[in-house]
Amino acid sequence: MEREPVKRPDSSIAGGDLARETPPEELIKAFDAFSKTSAELIEYYAVLERRIAELTEQLERSRRLAAIGEMAATLAHEIRNPLAGISLSVSMLEKKVRDPGARELIENIRAGVNRMESIIGDILNFAQDISLNKVQVSWRNLSRRMQKFLVPALEGKDITLSVSDEEVRFSADPDYLERALLNVLDNAVDAVGDKGQIWLSCEVRGGRVGISVRDTGPGFPEGVMGRLCEPFFTTKTKGTGLGLAITSRIVEAHGGEVEFGNWEKGAEVVIWLPY
Ligand SMILES: Nc1ncnc2c1ncn2[C@@H]1O[C@H](COP(=O)(O)OP(=O)(O)OP(=O)(O)O)[C@@H](O)[C@H]1O
Ligand SMILES: [Mg+2]
Repeated sequence: MEREPVKRPDSSIAGGDLARETPPEELIKAFDAFSKTSAELIEYYAVLERRIAELTEQLERSRRLAAIGEMAATLAHEIRNPLAGISLSVSMLEKKVRDPGARELIENIRAGVNRMESIIGDILNFAQDISLNKVQVSWRNLSRRMQKFLVPALEGKDITLSVSDEEVRFSADPDYLERALLNVLDNAVDAVGDKGQIWLSCEVRGGRVGISVRDTGPGFPEGVMGRLCEPFFTTKTKGTGLGLAITSRIVEAHGGEVEFGNWEKGAEVVIWLPY
């Protein structure tokens, strides 16, 4: 916003009683103070303008995401019924067909159907209203369950999973939190590949509980940080892009936030929850 520069008053031409009775130095001082305040106001106005632009963009984004979510949920509902029909027919075919070549084809169809069912489950999960049932959660119990969930994903891979054992108790919905954390851990496993390390830890800092997942993968690609929680944002050939969107919804429902970053050896995601 362009503004005219404010001119200093020339005390010799300032009119009125005040100008006549006030020594020129004081007038100049008062005017300097006024100019300073007006410069500050202009600066503050610019800050406000930027903030309004940011909030408008955020609002626009949430509206767009809500529309995408609604459309995806409707599609998922519509696809679910015919898919259940396909799945049932495949099971019946499997029982009737003996030919090995045909059985292989049926297996391919089965794998495709399973994948579609899992995507539809994710979409419905994402679109579902979140209603929390908070209880006192023990970090030791939660982390043990997470380790168990990860067993199949880690099978056949040389990945070390280190878990902090120090007990922390906090209020959360354990089912939702497990789902949120599992999405982050799944990503860490994908990122690490066949060989590497993952650290899962929990600490209380600044009045919040931080659950951190660090990995030795390639780290977050440049320029994607702002898009990680967008539904359907993925860089994977077989990804749906709903994992982190679901995680952030769950964490936000808890009044927390998810922080993404890279460290020297890979990526780090921290789920912050109120303590
Ligand atoms: N630990 C990580 N290291 C590097 N990149 C990551 C990591 N976690 C997430 N990402 C990036 O964030 C993107 C979005 O992750 P998200 O979990 O939402 O979807 P996805 O893993 O691609 O698919 P889905 O979880 O639905 O199967 C990933 O495609 C990947 O580019
Ligand atoms: Mg994922």
